[in-house]
Amino acid sequence: MFSITQQINDQGHLQIGGIDTVALAAEFGTPLYVLDEEDFRSRCREYQRAFHTLKPDVGISYASKALLNLAVCRIIEQEGLGLDVASGGELFTAAQAAFPANRITMHGNNKSEEELCQALTIGVGTIVVDNFLELETLQSLLSPQQELRILLRVAPSIDPETHPYIRTGQTDTKFGFAVLTGDLLRAVSRVRDDSRLELAGFHCHIGSQITDLKFFEETTATMAQIAADIRDETGYATAELNIGGGLGVRYLPGDSLPDLKTYAQTIVGTLRARCAELNMPEPALLIEPGRSLVAEAGITLYRVGAIKQAPLPKGGARTYLSVDGGLSDNPRPQMYQARYHAILANKADQPAQFSYRIAGKHCETDTLIPEVLLPEAAPGDLLAIFSTGAYNASMSSNYNRLPRPAMALVRDGQADLIVQRETLTEVTQMDRLPERLR
Ligand SMILES: Cc1ncc(COP(=O)(O)O)c(C=O)c1O
Repeated sequence: MFSITQQINDQGHLQIGGIDTVALAAEFGTPLYVLDEEDFRSRCREYQRAFHTLKPDVGISYASKALLNLAVCRIIEQEGLGLDVASGGELFTAAQAAFPANRITMHGNNKSEEELCQALTIGVGTIVVDNFLELETLQSLLSPQQELRILLRVAPSIDPETHPYIRTGQTDTKFGFAVLTGDLLRAVSRVRDDSRLELAGFHCHIGSQITDLKFFEETTATMAQIAADIRDETGYATAELNIGGGLGVRYLPGDSLPDLKTYAQTIVGTLRARCAELNMPEPALLIEPGRSLVAEAGITLYRVGAIKQAPLPKGGARTYLSVDGGLSDNPRPQMYQARYHAILANKADQPAQFSYRIAGKHCETDTLIPEVLLPEAAPGDLLAIFSTGAYNASMSSNYNRLPRPAMALVRDGQADLIVQRETLTEVTQMDRLPERLR
């Protein structure tokens, strides 16, 4: 499960980015999100290499919903990727980091007028228009001379094998213009009737944590077919096709994944073959990986607290190991039974022989890992959960009024705080007490 800089050091501790995790926990406290900069950057480069050797005009945008803060924006900017944002908050963060606006793509199935104004003011490169209300709002906001580059989001009617909560491209979806109902065709005509709008092409996203390449093949082929059908009906020639998120990632030691080269070959090869069959010039291709760039570059460090044995109805016992975080810093196990792997970071060289259930500290049965083998654990040990770089910090909450964890960026033996730990004062600072309750 180790990322490229993770290893066990001479003291038998897990090390990441050249730093002992025990020292990281001592310096920054726990729970602590740790982001391995070298690993993150190398994944950005691998993606670009995999696609650009096959097709130089592939645009890669990091889906910032996976993890966003100022430091992440800078890394993505330096690596030459675009940035995909899906809310005013994500866009604001990008602007605060001075991310080049023309490399930003704005998403969202219910963008508010305020968010659209913000996007126009900042001058984002592309807005992915999701529905007719948004289209009308945008048209009302644009001045007669103003020009805007857009993609139309399509519901491609593809249902991949992943958890229903992270499926997005099926027919019965809140996202995008349906093809079957004729909505997409109507949207294309409306856009083409407005000279201020430059229709660059079509966008879709079928879901996340997809590891079977047949779904990427199906998506690419379907999008090419949709573009060809639109061409046949309207004469419009698609310049770009955006096929949404990237490949799934490894959460458990036994997980196997297709490599990035094969993934890129599948997508580019399918596009090439379908365009030839459809007698269509090959459009530029865009992809928006989030999880696969950052998930495996992140770990979370927790301090082990209470350990208890609970008798099981059929005999035997289960050992619960509680940590100082849980549902509030990683809601994924609770939301969609996401699986994770862990080790004891301060006993990383000891054999993992004892079975534990890793429990959070919240007032729900917030199991982080149903069962994992660890060396014999004691209160005060340090637990490292792997592959927490994506959709953990970005989905965190203050449930039970827990302050959100800090995040440290590690590289070449240096650790920098990139997100400060929330304080209890900050957790309560938005509360207001009306006069009548004083
Ligand atoms: C529109 C869009 N693009 C990209 C992504 C990123 O997907 P992934 O993290 O699986 O790469 C998402 C995730 O939900 C998304 O909704």
